[in-house]
Amino acid sequence: MAKKTILDFQRMKKQGEKVTWLTAYDYPTAQFQERAGIDMILVGDSLGNCVYGYSGGTVPVTMEQCIVHTEAVRRGAPNTFVMGDMPFLSYQITPEDAVRNAGRFYKEAGVDAIKLEGGCRVTKVIKAIVDAGMVVCGHIGLTPQSTGQFGGYKAQGRTAESGYELIKDARAVQEAGASFLLLEAVTPEIGKFITEDLKIPVYGIGAGPYCDGQLLIVSDILGIWEAFHPKFVKRYANMAEDSVKAIQAYVAEVREGKFPEQVHCYKMIEGEAEKLMKLVEQE
Ligand code: KIV
Repeated sequence: MAKKTILDFQRMKKQGEKVTWLTAYDYPTAQFQERAGIDMILVGDSLGNCVYGYSGGTVPVTMEQCIVHTEAVRRGAPNTFVMGDMPFLSYQITPEDAVRNAGRFYKEAGVDAIKLEGGCRVTKVIKAIVDAGMVVCGHIGLTPQSTGQFGGYKAQGRTAESGYELIKDARAVQEAGASFLLLEAVTPEIGKFITEDLKIPVYGIGAGPYCDGQLLIVSDILGIWEAFHPKFVKRYANMAEDSVKAIQAYVAEVREGKFPEQVHCYKMIEGEAEKLMKLVEQE
């Protein structure tokens, strides 16, 4: 299947065709996703939790880590729209810094777009990156890099005032030139309003069923990440449990001498074993 472009995503919004989107952090998972026909992959800075196990979540993640993982995903899914995720402090300091770092995702990892967190407060940065010729996805609602300001991982926009702030943020992101908006952990009412209000595609992670597409963290849907289970996650596999069971079986078979069996062993070329014995005996 040909790689989708922003034109496909705009058309899909107009035609009411839902976009499927998952995170991936490595080559094999990206391959699985491309084989499964996913529309878009985010190499999220959630790799801080899901791959590196940082207690600080996404905050400690560096540009270098994001680039390395994005390169691997790009190799695994050459025909899928891949988005890089700008890590904490790679875009908040100056717009120049932000353009340079966004450009690294393009030049070093071959992305199709980059994502960054924030609404009204990052519009200058979005504009600078767009003016440099790159495709930007805004991200508002629960933005994990600033959970300290929210007092934790909490749903956003549950009151009229905070919902209105989100609507203003969404409009500002579109106005600044972003091509996509991601809404995280907001009510379906807010998800529906913003999706219908904006011309650009609006995707949700925990933002209800009305968005133009859905994103989830691959480690959540596959049951790899067990530390916590957000309300909006649906689990489609139990890979942590299955992996532990498989490793236990291997450990038991090695200890009991059941592995390796004949089928797992290389064969000598015919007649060579006898010759070898003669060589050893001649010594
Ligand atoms: O890093 C990530 O995976 C994200 C999602 C939580 C939206 O930004």
